[in-house]
Amino acid sequence: MIKAVRGTRDLLPPETALWNFVEATVREVFRAYNFQEIRTPIFEETQLFARGVGEETDIVSKEMYTWEDRGRAASEKGQSLTLRPENTAGVVRAYIEHKLGDRGLNKLYYIGPQFRRERPQKGRYRQFYQIGAEVIGPASSGSDKPVRDAEILEMLATLLDRLGIRNWNLEINSVGNAQERVAFNDALRKALEPVAASMCADCQRRATTNPLRVLDCKVPEDQPIIEKLPRITDYLQEESTRHFADVRALLESAGVPFQVNPRLVRGLDYYTRTAFEFTHGALGAQNAILGGGRYDGLSEALGGPPAPGIGFAMGEDRLVLALQEQTPNIVKAPDAYIAPMGAGTNQAAIGLAKALRQAGLVIDLGDESFRLKKSFETASKLGARFILIVGENEVRSGEFALKNLATGEQTTVPRAELAAKLQAS
Ligand code: HAM
Repeated sequence: MIKAVRGTRDLLPPETALWNFVEATVREVFRAYNFQEIRTPIFEETQLFARGVGEETDIVSKEMYTWEDRGRAASEKGQSLTLRPENTAGVVRAYIEHKLGDRGLNKLYYIGPQFRRERPQKGRYRQFYQIGAEVIGPASSGSDKPVRDAEILEMLATLLDRLGIRNWNLEINSVGNAQERVAFNDALRKALEPVAASMCADCQRRATTNPLRVLDCKVPEDQPIIEKLPRITDYLQEESTRHFADVRALLESAGVPFQVNPRLVRGLDYYTRTAFEFTHGALGAQNAILGGGRYDGLSEALGGPPAPGIGFAMGEDRLVLALQEQTPNIVKAPDAYIAPMGAGTNQAAIGLAKALRQAGLVIDLGDESFRLKKSFETASKLGARFILIVGENEVRSGEFALKNLATGEQTTVPRAELAAKLQAS
């Protein structure tokens, strides 16, 4: 039997209703903050991620689905292509390619699948879905200002509240600008030299390739060593320090609760200054419901104009998991199951179903060949509130038997009053 590939999954009803609820809600909130939707391709040139996300990151070095495309001619070597592991690099590529800055398109959002070859577990998949947004533009558009950071974080707090996700926790940090990070990385490398050998295998590797990631290590034995390492905030110069202080002050005035976590580093290399993560208790090990930050140098790293930016991506799979813990089923049950009884009654039943649906009711329809017992069984399997019998007598008299499946109460209702009766009860 052929099954879905490891790390991928089918999203089935009724869960898909939660996905639709999440997407409809975020679209509404994004609109209120004047974001517009962008849809970029699912695969891009591999170079985009190598240069954008960073060659040394786990994502690029071990988790990408990359292949060589066929060349145009049999003799021609094909391009290296990659299924997108994230969407920020693609959005910034599109921003540069279509000169979106010149058109004032500075606030973009996206919803779609991403691909990472990670070890699958609850909340971690190889095809997963992100809902993200980016504010990017020339500095003259104010894209570098602390108020952008605070506005994004305030929007996220509003969004999670609107979705009904409670007990989230926001952690923020500043990872400095490119120069400050070089100084900090040097200091970290030096501090790690004498101690790296006694740390976990991942840390030993990161101590030379990407020392910043050591701060993210979760291995308990390594924690006492990590606690003593230098802190990024001590390497921030005046401008970055002020930017971070302004963001914190604005968050306080906007009433967004947060904690500063000086060890918060993100798994992508493009971040500058503000970095943040929202976590949620109910999710277990994969508790990051969303992450993001500023990436003031990304456009230039991809060959574009200077265009500071900030954004985030939420794991939609994880949002839905968190919601399921609270509201497992938001699907409205059918208001009525229509049971045509006897030859020729389908004709009246289909017309009646149409009229009731147009009145805004959820209606399911059987078939004239079904026996009464089967119709009742189907109606209760579907969770319908009422069963409406459309037999030959009813069609003739224009009055229909309507039975409440929860209480067993049965009434006879004239056709013209059916919609109102179903809406009222
Ligand atoms: P990220 O932290 O790599 O950031 O991913 C953002 C979110 O995507 C995570 O917090 C998590 O909820 C979800 N996620 C990541 N990997 C998986 C997975 N394998 N399975 C399920 N969910 C996952 C980014 O991708 C950046 N592009 C965010 C950003 C936008 N920064 C600035 N703008």
